[in-house]
This record gives sequence, C-alpha cells and structure tokens, in this order.
Amino acid sequence: MDVIIASNEQEAGRIAAAHIAHALRGIERPVLGVATGSSPLSTYEDLGRRIKEGSLDLSQARAFALDEYVGIPADNPLSYADTIRTTVTEPLGFDPANVRTPDGMADDIAAGAKEYDEAIKAAGGIDVQILGIGNNGHIGFNEPGSSLVSRTRQVCLTRETREANARYFDDPADVPTHAVSQGLGTIMEARKVVLVALGEQKAAAIAAACEGPMGAHCPATLLQMHPDAVIVVDEAAGSQLQRKDYYADVQRLMPEDQRVVD
Ligand code: F6R
Repeated sequence: MDVIIASNEQEAGRIAAAHIAHALRGIERPVLGVATGSSPLSTYEDLGRRIKEGSLDLSQARAFALDEYVGIPADNPLSYADTIRTTVTEPLGFDPANVRTPDGMADDIAAGAKEYDEAIKAAGGIDVQILGIGNNGHIGFNEPGSSLVSRTRQVCLTRETREANARYFDDPADVPTHAVSQGLGTIMEARKVVLVALGEQKAAAIAAACEGPMGAHCPATLLQMHPDAVIVVDEAAGSQLQRKDYYADVQRLMPEDQRVVD
C-alpha cells in the first residue's frame, strides 16, 4: 500500500489521475471501477484535463459503478446512475452503453447483483478501481462488519452513512436505508485500487485503514492485503497518520523509472 499526502484537493486529484492514467497505459479497452461522492471529483477533473490534452482516451473504456441506492430510479438526479452520468460518463467521453451501475430498482436485487459481478468478470475484471472512504471506514457501501469476501449484494446503510449523505437530499428522512454495493471481495479483485480521501472528517478512517489492524470493523483496512493499492489523501485526511515521514520518503526516494506522477 502506497500512501501519498497531497497538499490540497487539486493536487490529490492530479496524483490519483496520474496513477490511473499510468495503470491504463497500453490497455486497449480498459475497465474502470468508479465511485460517486465528493472525494473523486478532482480526480475526474484531472482525467478530463488529460483527455482534453490528448494523453488519455477513454472513449473505448468500460466502467462499473461501485454502488447504487435501492429504490431511486436511474433517471432521478439523486441516483448514483445519474451522478455517474454527469461526473464520469459525459465529461470523460465514455460511451453510455459501456457504463453500468448496479440496479437498485430490480424486482430481484440478489439476481441483479450476481449478474453484475458476472458482467465485471465477463469484461475481463476491473483494471483500476477508484474509491472514496466513509467516515466509518466503509469502501463502496461495505459498512463495518461486512464480510471481507463479500460480493455485490444488497446492504443496509449505517445511520452515520445516511447522515453523511443527507446533504444531497431535501429531507434527511428521504435518504435510502439500503443500497446495492460491490462487495469487498469484488473490489479486491481489481488489479489496481486508487483511494482518495479529503478532509479532517476522514482522518481517523484513513489512519485506521493504513496503519490499524486489519478487520471488518474498518472495511478499508482490507486494502492492506491488496497488491497494488494507492491511498491519496490531503493533509487534513492524513493528519492522524503516524508514519507521514516514511510515506514522504518513499515518494522522494523513488527511483526515476518507477515514478508515475507527472
Ligand atoms: C460512493 C461510495 C462511498 C463513498 C464514501 C465517501 O460511490 O461508494 O464509499 O466513496 O462514502 O463519500 P464522499 O466522497 O462523498 O466523502
């Protein structure tokens, strides 16, 4: 696990995007795992800049969203399907036919979730999974206590997650109680993971994820077992890390031929 501390949100986005672009280099039809929420927005912006400059092309790429609320139709602006359309599909030039979100309106959610995992597999697996992290350490909507080998499935959101996401809804009571989320086992199969965390409210979760004991109490700790995970934080989100100096040394002393940040 590489931990990179950026000085602000824009720099975090540039670093995360550099890692994503580097990992996708030479892949003809890359497969991205994409997150909603505020954390990856500067990353998406920087990917957009690279596309505009001509150093990245995602027009042939495919994308699988991490999660979707249960009970919010895809054409509702509060759905994650619509959020992915406006933050990823359109600005980054994906073919909409190549972008999928779990179906939170399916009559048979379990069957839809199983099919979603199969579709990821059929696409050849995810090359790069972009993640945020919840204040409670969730990744996707795998809340504390989730099975570390879970697959895409319906999950019940914690009260703290519903409170954190209430900012998008007119009435906090409208925040869905359930979602369909890629499982921790699904996320761990991605060949590379890039997690972005911003702000003081993520500091405890980031310290636990990077330096705490691994376990279901903080699902993001599982990334310690991932062979190629990069955690990009701003200074506030990294403020409770104990080994900041070492993380800075790793970046500063990295051999030239291993540098991915441009
Ligand atoms: C979003 C997702 C969540 C968020 C997390 C952080 O698709 O799966 O895990 O990444 O809740 O949300 P923000 O970035 O809004 O702080």
